Amino acid sequence: MKKLEQLYEGKAKKVFKTDDPELYIVDYKDDATAFNGEKKGTIMGKGVINNRVSNHLMKMLETHGIPTHFVEEISERETVVKKVTIVPLEVIVRNIAAGSLSKRLGLPEGTKMKSTVLEYSYKDDALGDPMVNDYHIAAMGLATKEELETIAGYALKVNEILSEYLKDLNIELIDFKLEFGKTSDGTIILADEISPDTCRFWDSTTGEKLDKDRFRRDMGGVEDAYKEVMKRLLGE
Ligand code: C5P
Repeated sequence: MKKLEQLYEGKAKKVFKTDDPELYIVDYKDDATAFNGEKKGTIMGKGVINNRVSNHLMKMLETHGIPTHFVEEISERETVVKKVTIVPLEVIVRNIAAGSLSKRLGLPEGTKMKSTVLEYSYKDDALGDPMVNDYHIAAMGLATKEELETIAGYALKVNEILSEYLKDLNIELIDFKLEFGKTSDGTIILADEISPDTCRFWDSTTGEKLDKDRFRRDMGGVEDAYKEVMKRLLGE
């Protein structure tokens, strides 16, 4: 397969066309941003780690019946994925209060909630990715009712599978963000990435943060935290 022209450059990844009309190549960068691009930096080696971690988790989820965009890892930073049109929603699942939910609702970080929270944000940088509900999504035509049911079902199932999987690695899954895409035949599949950039991972014993909050909050030890996640997941 040939890597052709760049289609898109996002904050953490570039996407390239290939000579197969149904496949793209994603190239993971070391660039890090936070707070809707206000904070910028580099996390050395992040692209390699996120590529490998995300692919590992997508493959694991596939074995549990979640359809994903993953096709083949072709280098340290590059992966072949199925071509999709991204549904313009950030799908956020929360088990423990943290981050923007803690701020919004006044629940201290680490508060155990009585049940899982599912949130959607409309992916729009200019608007700052505002939170939307099922009614906004239907009214704006961002997804049909059926599509949103599929997305919600997959997101909650991913939470169950991933929480269990990480528990064995002494990692508590606090919250995470998913994105879904539609293939040319209209099938909804899991897309984007699952990595320390998009999840909150806390060490189950010490509560140490092993994710992008170390970058967002200038806590130091960012690279080491990403490396630790890769080590626990991939054994290296
Ligand atoms: O910031 P907030 O608490 O809403 O984030 C919830 C979860 O979604 C966190 O795991 C965070 O890493 C992820 N997230 C993301 N990309 C965004 C917003 C949140 O990956 N643009």
